[in-house]
Amino acid sequence: MHPPDNPPSGNANRKGIQMKKIAALLIIAIIVAAVPAMAAEDGAALFKAKCAACHGTDGAKMAKANLGSAAIQAKTDADLITFIGTNPKHNFLKKNVTEEQIKALVAHIRTLKK
Ligand code: HEC
Repeated sequence: MHPPDNPPSGNANRKGIQMKKIAALLIIAIIVAAVPAMAAEDGAALFKAKCAACHGTDGAKMAKANLGSAAIQAKTDADLITFIGTNPKHNFLKKNVTEEQIKALVAHIRTLKK
């Protein structure tokens, strides 16, 4: 007589499904975590391309418009977005920069805070 084979275990099956659920959740978590990082990166790259010539890569080149300064950091995101998009010297909405990109730029400006 053979010992009975282990019956196919419903438990093992359920574990497999659990693992797949965990893997799926991990993938979602990674994507969710990566989106703001991508926006920040985008903002940094845009800043380098469109703003650094005047403002410097650290935003501090012009004393009167030091982007990391308390005065400018005190402005709201909405103020900065409007300024960058429509200020006569900036007017980036007319220069192929989208509102989404301006938001990414503002997020980048927040990282320049002293
Ligand atoms: C041609 C030069 C130039 C470029 C390019 C430029 N800026 Fe400016 N920026 C200025 C000057 C000059 C000021 C000082 C304010 C003024 O004179 O209007 C300023 C001021 C600012 C301010 C301060 C606004 C305030 O309320 O005081 C912000 C924020 C700003 N710039 C963001 C940007 C961003 C973001 C970009 C790139 C998308 C950019 N600037 C590109 C010249 C420039």
